[in-house]
Amino acid sequence: MNALLLAGGLGTRLRPLTESLPKPMALVGNSPWLERLVIHLREQNIREIVMAVKHYSEVIQDYFGTGEKWGVTIQYAAESSPLGTAGAIKNAEPLLHDTFLVINADIVHDIDLQSLLSYHKRHGGAVTIGLTEVDDPTSYGVVEQDGDGRIVRFVEKPAREEAPSCRINAGIYVMDKKALQHIPSNREVSIERETFPLLIEKQLGVYGKVVDGYWMDMGTKERYRQIHWDLLNRVYTLPLPGEQRGNGIWIGSSCSIPSSVLLIPPVLIGDRVNIGERAIIGPFSVIGDDCIIGRNVRCAETIMWHRCLTHNEVVLNNCIFGYDLEIGSEHILHEAVMSRMEVLQS
Ligand code: GDD
Ligand code: MG
Repeated sequence: MNALLLAGGLGTRLRPLTESLPKPMALVGNSPWLERLVIHLREQNIREIVMAVKHYSEVIQDYFGTGEKWGVTIQYAAESSPLGTAGAIKNAEPLLHDTFLVINADIVHDIDLQSLLSYHKRHGGAVTIGLTEVDDPTSYGVVEQDGDGRIVRFVEKPAREEAPSCRINAGIYVMDKKALQHIPSNREVSIERETFPLLIEKQLGVYGKVVDGYWMDMGTKERYRQIHWDLLNRVYTLPLPGEQRGNGIWIGSSCSIPSSVLLIPPVLIGDRVNIGERAIIGPFSVIGDDCIIGRNVRCAETIMWHRCLTHNEVVLNNCIFGYDLEIGSEHILHEAVMSRMEVLQS
């Protein structure tokens, strides 16, 4: 059994953070989510991984290489044009085992995958879809099941009145290779709009099981923020880097934080962070490694990736900054989502 991670989407709803980065490489608690996902898989004894890549595929391949550093084997199925969720699986077919997991790599989760695999073995159908329940199902794939857990209808992103339930596709599947016969090659195919409805119609055994544990799709700015607030509140218990000082304050190594600085929990501060006199950080802030924050800066509900530089007397509220951003002095930013232009080498 191996796992295929779908990591090739454009990440449009997380722009500009994803302007030069694949969405699953966005930082979650100061590390790329995809790295956390690889570790999560290894911890569940899934050590053979295939990554379906397209948008900035080289960023992923350069970061992970063969996967040896993480104690896993990683192979890549790269697309020359975007093939969609099912097309990406079909493209990876030669690398997949008879039974395999598929995970939307933008799903931040700590789900027990082995219990999904045992359920799949028990029912003997071609596909198991991990399900979760949400209040508003309209931005997800929504299912209708019979009493045995078999999915009888799958509707992608329905209007509210057309949603058959609040049970949604969690973006985590177990599949048998025989299901791939029903995906055409070399064209864009959506598993949600085309393949699942077809497999259901052909009665190949598409089952759904509600999965337990933290689950959130990081694909919008609101949800990306929410994941961080859940992390800081420990609703999501992914280990946080740094040393915990007091309740809800995590500080990395080699930081310079004068005693006039006020840290209002919960806050996570990375390694080698330098904070100026009388700055107020928090509540709900995540500061990346090697950031420099000036004097009298006020920073609340803000996520800042590595190496950002904020000059003196700046107010930040509900912002998200990508790598290497510089904010000049005396700026007031509310709800700013910013990233730095990649300098292209000619
Ligand atoms: N390799 C590759 N190629 N990957 C792709 C492609 C592609 O052409 N298109 C999308 N992906 C990857 C994305 O990178 C992401 O990890 C995953 O497939 C899902 O795409 P999203 O664009 O994030 O879809 P969504 O969030 O709107 O909806 C999907 O996830 C929901 C759960 O959060 C659907 O599967 C829904 O049915 C589901 O409920
Ligand atoms: Mg998504």
